[in-house]
Amino acid sequence: MNSIYPPREIIEADRPPRPAGVLSRSYRDRLIERGIWGLYRWYTARSQETRNWNVDLGFDWRNIKTTFSPTVKQILQGFFAVEQYVPDYTGKALDLVRRSHGRAHFQIRWGSEEEKHADTWWNAVLFSKSRTPEELSEYKDLIIKKEWELPWEDPLHILIYTVFQERATQLNYINMAKIAAGQKAGYEDDACPVLLKVATAIATDEAAHYNFFLESARLHMYYYPLETLEAIRDVIQHFAMPAQKLLPDWQAFFEAAYKAAVYGPREYARDVVAVGLQQFGIESRKALEDGIKRTRLVPDEEGQMTQSAIWETFDPNGIVRDVQRLYTKINGFEAKFGMDLIDPTQFVPNPVWKPV
Ligand SMILES: [Fe+2]
Ligand SMILES: [Fe+2]
Repeated sequence: MNSIYPPREIIEADRPPRPAGVLSRSYRDRLIERGIWGLYRWYTARSQETRNWNVDLGFDWRNIKTTFSPTVKQILQGFFAVEQYVPDYTGKALDLVRRSHGRAHFQIRWGSEEEKHADTWWNAVLFSKSRTPEELSEYKDLIIKKEWELPWEDPLHILIYTVFQERATQLNYINMAKIAAGQKAGYEDDACPVLLKVATAIATDEAAHYNFFLESARLHMYYYPLETLEAIRDVIQHFAMPAQKLLPDWQAFFEAAYKAAVYGPREYARDVVAVGLQQFGIESRKALEDGIKRTRLVPDEEGQMTQSAIWETFDPNGIVRDVQRLYTKINGFEAKFGMDLIDPTQFVPNPVWKPV
């Protein structure tokens, strides 16, 4: 897409079908924008209803374990450090998407949830006596001197990056929850009900973030299939966790997470890339790369995937089903407060799709 800013009005020439049943780019941008806006409103209501916990009062901090292993202590500090860059994560992406109502407003809400994660991990490190208050303050001052920069310059790549990054973060916390539940061999002594509640609450937020970005990315896939597939390929080729280059003790954090099987190359390949691709209906990295290559050999004038090769790259029926399900969800939500009668979010089929 040229811009994520939807045109204020759709001129007659932009209305579908145009030509031969192809939706114009500006019309597609507008449809995506409206879909994300509808999803954002649904998300907000759900977030407030189900995940509105408080960092300080929501957990029994006085009773968190104070004898975690050095490995777990290091990982907790690493979690805090990665989440501590939330002003950069929120602000820089917000600048990029500020003209999209749905994405910009979501970014603010997302930032408010991520901010809770930074403060919750701060409490976890502090109350578990993994670091003294002085050590932690000093560490915070040190890391925040560096600034996180966007890993990609365009909104679509950032969106896809965030899908995989949220999945990776979720996985980190799920694996920490397993340790806290006493379910990781060799780490039984790190079991702790308070840490379990913390890791589970944050992992649940990350799952919600992952789903929001995934649904948004699927909308792009539906209206801009080839560009989205290319962005997915680019992102997984160059993926790195956000604060990797910023933390002075990244290596120690990485080694601790690797040792405890919380996160490492194996988890990335199996539980981040493979799972993410599957949810885009893509069988494998290789299928994705081959499909793009073959499609690019004979692109049509609209850059659309009318070649048969691309349809073999992923499961088109699955994407259509997922997108339709998204609109059903949004419409169901809008009907709860009468938006369905005033200004409903409407699904407009993309005629280039030829499900098999
Ligand atoms: Fe987070
Ligand atoms: Fe998140």
